[in-house]
Amino acid sequence: MANKFSFPENFLWGTATASYQIEGAWNKHGKGESTWDRFAHTPGHIKNNDTGDVADDHYRLWKKDIGLMKKLGLKAYRFSTSWPRLLPAGRGKVNQKGLDFYSKLVDGLLDANIVPFITLDHWDLPQKLEDEGGWVLRSTAEAFVEYADLMSRTFGDRVKNWITHNEPAVVAWMGYGTGQHAPGLKDYSLSLPVAHHLLLSHGWAVPVIRRNSPKAEVGITLNIAWGVAASNSRADLNSVRLDDGQWFRWFADPVYGRGYPSDVVLDFEKRGALPNGMNFVQAGDMDAIVTPTDFLGLNYYSRHVYRVNTPDNDPQIVFPKPTTPENWTEMGWEIHPDGLTGILGRAYFNYQPPKIYVTENGASYSTSPDEKGIVADEHRVNYLRTHFAAAHRAIQAGVPLAGYFVWSLLDNFEWSHGYTQRFGIVYVDYETQKRYLKDSAKWYKGVIKKNGF
Ligand code: FCB
Repeated sequence: MANKFSFPENFLWGTATASYQIEGAWNKHGKGESTWDRFAHTPGHIKNNDTGDVADDHYRLWKKDIGLMKKLGLKAYRFSTSWPRLLPAGRGKVNQKGLDFYSKLVDGLLDANIVPFITLDHWDLPQKLEDEGGWVLRSTAEAFVEYADLMSRTFGDRVKNWITHNEPAVVAWMGYGTGQHAPGLKDYSLSLPVAHHLLLSHGWAVPVIRRNSPKAEVGITLNIAWGVAASNSRADLNSVRLDDGQWFRWFADPVYGRGYPSDVVLDFEKRGALPNGMNFVQAGDMDAIVTPTDFLGLNYYSRHVYRVNTPDNDPQIVFPKPTTPENWTEMGWEIHPDGLTGILGRAYFNYQPPKIYVTENGASYSTSPDEKGIVADEHRVNYLRTHFAAAHRAIQAGVPLAGYFVWSLLDNFEWSHGYTQRFGIVYVDYETQKRYLKDSAKWYKGVIKKNGF
């Protein structure tokens, strides 16, 4: 049967994971402690006090996991490398065993004809650097360049796709602002220099990666929601603008040469988050941040509806009431495929990146294997089908979307939710480490084979 939705030739169908969420082996073979190790080991931070100590035991089972990817016919795999596994103190002495692990992984992927996409920072900062002050300090941005240099020197011949940071907004606002993520600090006046040093380290690292890996493509991954106001009141509309400003424009605008958005600077001033103004921005920084990139990575999951005039007058994001699993995932995130068409069009027409990847999109449902080992996760199939169709509409409208990474290959450690949220297209039994292809994985395999559906 002919496809209803056919994707461009060489479209990169992939899946994504992150080191802390799947690897385990948190203290094996010379790995240093990360901020997430420290955060999860401190009781009260994570649901059920879960940790990533073992996670999917991918550090040991990586070969099996590549086998699964091969079975699915994946064209690409986005994973992150653990900075403290490679540079246990964040800088200086290299852990050869860490390099060996990722070297085997990269070779295994290439042998399976799967294009590796490396994310250098998916949040697990070396705790040693955090002890000095973490991303609040400029010296952490310098250490990141050393790490990017090591990685691109070692793997640049084999890896041609690099992502500097994953969702720097989450690190800045949730890691240092609200404290829901590592390192768990709760001070918005720290979040602003953190955001700046993340962006600065991105800008500094891009030319280093290019130098070490000619023809490599380099980008950054930002999270983006489809924000709409609950009403046409000025207050609701304003709330959409500011939240989008803080979570998306604060990062996208500087990367694309517009500097920090002035409306959001004013808002931060009003909130007392800039006690010393923007004194962390030094001469030349903004130029470094606009270093041209080859692609923009976008992580999209949901729509946010903003209502300011709530009964207690507390501005908040309100989601339409949960109803059925067809429009609501177990994360409590509304399902809104049109939002994906919306954000892709918006990001392309506003910033004109040469190409875009959906670097994450997926859904949490806890469906488990039946007695025959079948995982009938039809809600996830629906989620993916409707979002792929939404991406297709964006391509038809002219968005240069070059690939799509489903979050996630495996069920894994979902940050502060621990193991209670399952995003995988492969089910993981955490007791036995047995993997089961969910129906969504089998369906995805067909999509990849036909380059559409
Ligand atoms: C994103 C993260 C990813 C995963 C998904 C559900 O914000 O980048 O690691 O947790 O959300």
